[in-house]
Amino acid sequence: MYTQNTTLPETLRHRRQKLAELIDFPAILWSGGSSPRNFPANTFPYRANSHFLYFAGISLQNAAIRLEGGNLQLFIDDPHPSSALWHGETPTREEIAARIGADDARPMAELADYLENAATLSVQDAATWTQQTQLLDRWILPKNQPEGIDLDLAKAIVSLRLTHDAAALVELRKAAAVSVQAHKAGMAATPKAKLEAEVRAAMEAVIMGHNMTTAYTSIVTVHGEVLHNGHYYHSLQPGDLLLADVGAETETGWAADITRTWPISGKFSSTQRDIYDIVLAAHDACIEQIAPGVEYADIHLLAATAIAEGLVDLGILQGKPEDLVKMDLHALFFPHGIGHLLGLDVHDMEDLGDVAGYDEGRKRSSRFGLSYLRLNRPLHPGMLVTIEPGFYQVPAILNDPKIRSQYQYLVNWERLEQFADVRGIRIEDDVLVTESGSEVLTAALPTQASAIEDLLEFPKLSQNHD
Ligand code: GLY
Ligand code: MN
Ligand code: MN
Repeated sequence: MYTQNTTLPETLRHRRQKLAELIDFPAILWSGGSSPRNFPANTFPYRANSHFLYFAGISLQNAAIRLEGGNLQLFIDDPHPSSALWHGETPTREEIAARIGADDARPMAELADYLENAATLSVQDAATWTQQTQLLDRWILPKNQPEGIDLDLAKAIVSLRLTHDAAALVELRKAAAVSVQAHKAGMAATPKAKLEAEVRAAMEAVIMGHNMTTAYTSIVTVHGEVLHNGHYYHSLQPGDLLLADVGAETETGWAADITRTWPISGKFSSTQRDIYDIVLAAHDACIEQIAPGVEYADIHLLAATAIAEGLVDLGILQGKPEDLVKMDLHALFFPHGIGHLLGLDVHDMEDLGDVAGYDEGRKRSSRFGLSYLRLNRPLHPGMLVTIEPGFYQVPAILNDPKIRSQYQYLVNWERLEQFADVRGIRIEDDVLVTESGSEVLTAALPTQASAIEDLLEFPKLSQNHD
């Protein structure tokens, strides 16, 4: 039973004992190593592989762990004597082993003696997957779906990581709380900011100030219709909406993923407010339905139907919402899935393709309105998912002559033009499935349009008191 005093070694022992109940062969998980960005000593920020982190608990580099029968062997070299000059004192192999509760600890070179019948999962950095491939004498490539015993290992790890234990939830709640603060800081910074970059800086400052990192490349943009927009150079114009998708990652690697959309001027226009309220209605309807046993794909369809319904009410779509969803009309404006698993990775375990996201025997649909659905499983207590409906006017979709002629009579294109000041709106929260329903871990950040406007006004009020 987990208590606040449960130690890291106890948590890790519990995880590997559960793994031992699912597989009868050894598993070797590599941490990965840092990658140079322009010369060897200048590296990209390093983060250990998530499967490794789940069982090793700390972000080691150039290390491997071997798990068998509930035992943990650590393979890592002691720091080179010269490393203290550049990196300070780093813990020895024995100190690390004690900290994570390893049963045995050896230099990396001895891993070669412990490879027999071992399964593994690929890491992302080339130096390490090359080493995996050489040592195990089979291709271990990040782009390949695992096969054979590697696939058996993947499925076993997925079944553990799909639902979060209490130690993971402590971290996930911390990431959520800091991300909420970051969004509030972004809203507070907006009235004085001239560029997207300034709002991003205010948000990431909160995350860095808590000794966390961003869990993914922040999206802070007035062009929310570009789904993974990674630019921050646009100026903030009073009539624009700013879409911010920013999430923190704790020191031990656990992520949050939040999106809010707010008006630069401090007040939504009536057209922006109309669409915002449709997205919010979809968001609320989905969260309301989250509970054990519910199919996540049905939650997606619920969002699609709510969005279609709202757009019919506004006169943008014409027809019965259920019929429009069957024809993928919703996907003209909501072209992605309602969300995904969240855990150590922002799209948790997506390195395994759809092994984690799709239940055994299920495959991605080729339908435009369903193909980007990243999760298609029944929900279980302990799963953490995002709910992130959106509305976007993507020129590549809406100006496509084929689409315009196909949907000539189902979209009122003239009416749509009146909503030109809405390029992209998304509202994203992190929702834990509980025994009785759900808990929104990011609920401390308001979603109501008027509450968002209040957060934007806050710095103007404080200016008056200066
Ligand atoms: N931040 C990426 C996503 O929401 O899926
Ligand atoms: Mn997300
Ligand atoms: Mn997101």
